[in-house]
Amino acid sequence: MGSGKERAWKTQGIKEFFFTGNNDIMKVMETIVKKIDKNNIDADIIQEAGDILRRGGLVAFPTETVYGLGANALEEKAAKKTYAAKGRPSDNPLIVHIADYEDLRRIAVNIPPGTDALAAHFWPGPLTMIFWKSDVVPYGTTGGLETVAVRMPSDPAALALIRAAGGFVSAPSANTSGRPSPTTAEHVIHDLNGKIDMVIDGGAVDIGVESTILDMTVSPPMILRPGAVTAEMFAEVIGPVDVDRTILDAESGIRPKAPGMKYRHYAPKARLMIVEGDIREEILAIRQLAYAAHRRKKKIGIIATSETLPFYNYGIIKNAGTRENEKTIARNLYKVLREFDQEDAEVIYSESFAVQGIGKAVMNRLEKAAGHQKITAADIVKLQKYRRIIFVSGTDSARGPIAAELLRNQDLEQEYVVDSRGMVVLFPEPVNQKAEAVMRSVGMTMEPHISQQFEGENILDDTLVLTMEESQKDKLRSEYENIRNIYTLNEFTEDTTEIPNPYGKPLTAYGECLEVMEKLIAELAEKLNSSAEGEKEWGKYM
Ligand code: TXA
Ligand code: MG
Repeated sequence: MGSGKERAWKTQGIKEFFFTGNNDIMKVMETIVKKIDKNNIDADIIQEAGDILRRGGLVAFPTETVYGLGANALEEKAAKKTYAAKGRPSDNPLIVHIADYEDLRRIAVNIPPGTDALAAHFWPGPLTMIFWKSDVVPYGTTGGLETVAVRMPSDPAALALIRAAGGFVSAPSANTSGRPSPTTAEHVIHDLNGKIDMVIDGGAVDIGVESTILDMTVSPPMILRPGAVTAEMFAEVIGPVDVDRTILDAESGIRPKAPGMKYRHYAPKARLMIVEGDIREEILAIRQLAYAAHRRKKKIGIIATSETLPFYNYGIIKNAGTRENEKTIARNLYKVLREFDQEDAEVIYSESFAVQGIGKAVMNRLEKAAGHQKITAADIVKLQKYRRIIFVSGTDSARGPIAAELLRNQDLEQEYVVDSRGMVVLFPEPVNQKAEAVMRSVGMTMEPHISQQFEGENILDDTLVLTMEESQKDKLRSEYENIRNIYTLNEFTEDTTEIPNPYGKPLTAYGECLEVMEKLIAELAEKLNSSAEGEKEWGKYM
């Protein structure tokens, strides 16, 4: 038995453990959730939340960027609670949120010229500025630093709350450390229910990525984290600013200047990889990867845009927004990453987005979420020679559609768009009834097929044209100079078994034709598979 003092110390230690350690043990309090209308703020709710903050409690609230986890910024203990609830390393400093510009002078000293102009342009708004701290700011809030990060958010509920709380509210993003920042109250509740006193639900945020951080203690000021306020926008107000090199460059090997930027942040549970190239290559590469992953029974996700969505067939496909407006992508990014978690995606492939305007912030967050794992689209694209296969027969009503349907039913290591066309198609018609009958006898159907004239449309370098007869090949070759890959089916499979033409003959002739075709298509599949170069590569990418 130790002395009373020792025991007190031990109890203290246990308390600390309960407080900062295992997250489940911390689920002890009832979290109040209150909805608020930004256009008609309920003063009682703000009062209640402000009181909680004044008493040293934690209140999550909406800002225009992401939801913040508010605490009294001038109280050492409140910062501790914040770190505990988030499971965040305590060397990661908090941003102090203010509602009135005069208040900056209470928490910051040596405020440089330029600050007034920046504040006039961008406050309230998605800008955080770093200054030398005054004595009233505890080291708990600044993670032990002599500097303090300050922001004046524009969300009216946030401003009202800051005033109700006494003017200085520290607020990191209201997520569990390492998870994507919350853009709705539901996200906050998912992460922090039972660990904080209250959540103010103001609906989905507007911007969706965290504020731009600008270090005002150096000259010229330096961007430590990109956000909605860009370097170009700063330049217009105070002239050129510097940008921390580590923001988009993983290889620089330098420690980011904002302590929080060094962690693998914003991360989904799945392995996330960014596919880079021109947009066509990105789509092709993601299609190949998604197909390969699907064959391996991996649960995969794709981050696409409204423009590219229709090109994907496999996996959980999410629309992050439109390429015409990067703001839409910023707004949806974290939500999409969280949804993949909910749906237990194992691997996520993301297109890359333009690094301009807020796009820089989007790519910065995406790269952090991916732990800087990137895939060069061209490396994947070159692994697949053919993507589209067109079978050409006389009227596209029997042999061609049979070949196409048989191939679609093969176990192919790569994805192909398989079509059939005819040399002479006078009317678009369903397939020959006898051809359909023999296909049904082996459990397949060509029901949806309508015969179509070959017109040489969309023949690309990755298109393979396979004709039934030599004469068809010769004719197409002379008519269409753009066809690079054209063979008879026999030639390509190196099998000389003649493909009988059953046209006008009894059902048995169709049966015989099907038998030959089954053999040739199986050989075709084998040939395609044996030349599929990706098979040994995919492990790296999934
Ligand atoms: O949009 C935002 O800024 C949101 C909302 C809630 O206002 N807040 C937010 O806070 O993103 P948080 O804690 O998730 O990120 C704060 C970042 C961290 O990377 C931290 O290292 C950096 O700001 N930071 C804070 N104080 C700093 C300082 N004195 N010097 C350098 N970096 C600092
Ligand atoms: Mg954060």
